[in-house]
Amino acid sequence: MLFDTHAHLNDERFDNLRDELITSLAENGVGAYCEIGYDIESSKKAIELSEKYDLIYAAAGVHPHDTDPLTEKDMETLKSLCSHKNVVALGEIGLDYYYDNSKRENQRKWFDRQLSLAEEIDIPVTIHTRDAMADTIDILKAHKEAKGIIHCYSGSVESAKILLGLGYYISFAGPLTFKNASTALEVAKYVPKDRMLIETDSPYLAPVPYRGKTNTPIYVAEVAKRLAEIKEMTFDDVCRITFENAKKVYRIA
Ligand code: NI
Repeated sequence: MLFDTHAHLNDERFDNLRDELITSLAENGVGAYCEIGYDIESSKKAIELSEKYDLIYAAAGVHPHDTDPLTEKDMETLKSLCSHKNVVALGEIGLDYYYDNSKRENQRKWFDRQLSLAEEIDIPVTIHTRDAMADTIDILKAHKEAKGIIHCYSGSVESAKILLGLGYYISFAGPLTFKNASTALEVAKYVPKDRMLIETDSPYLAPVPYRGKTNTPIYVAEVAKRLAEIKEMTFDDVCRITFENAKKVYRIA
């Protein structure tokens, strides 16, 4: 069975097929997935979805895109959301200097604040970082107690070494299957088997041969197949090991 560590099936693109899709996951080899919140509302919705289906876990947090309007009151709400039994991570949180949808100073402030909250309540984090690796690493170094996942990893081997050294897991998504994925390929070769994870980031970033289509957790198998080739492992071993790693990082019994 496969564990998709990062997906957004509450996206409106799934409005007419969500239940059908979710009930078909198990027969398509997906044994679990984590529905990821990106602001307070979507975090609440992620929890609601996780209450409806056993194979869904939830993450609650505020994405860098949505940090401009944040207040300390939101952190209180987030703290209570994170105490829900199905919430396995605080996230996605991080920095995005590619889109700059929120001011960079606000992105940094609330990334730092949410990491402090994760340390305080002892919950893993899931991190989004795009075109902001140096600042991401600086902030993570200031939060040595925080642990978790670098989602849809797109950085260099050198940065991966630092992040692994800080205790993070590296999660691979659709881009690993793209033809021009030379850096991702080097990273995948380098990451130890006990720190690698797979995800889809549905509905975004569908892997080859579904590139350009709406992504679903079912396609996480394509990421697993590519990872198996790169690591010279069997598909079954990649499924088993990444499933165990996901349970470990998310602290699922
Ligand atoms: Ni995401």
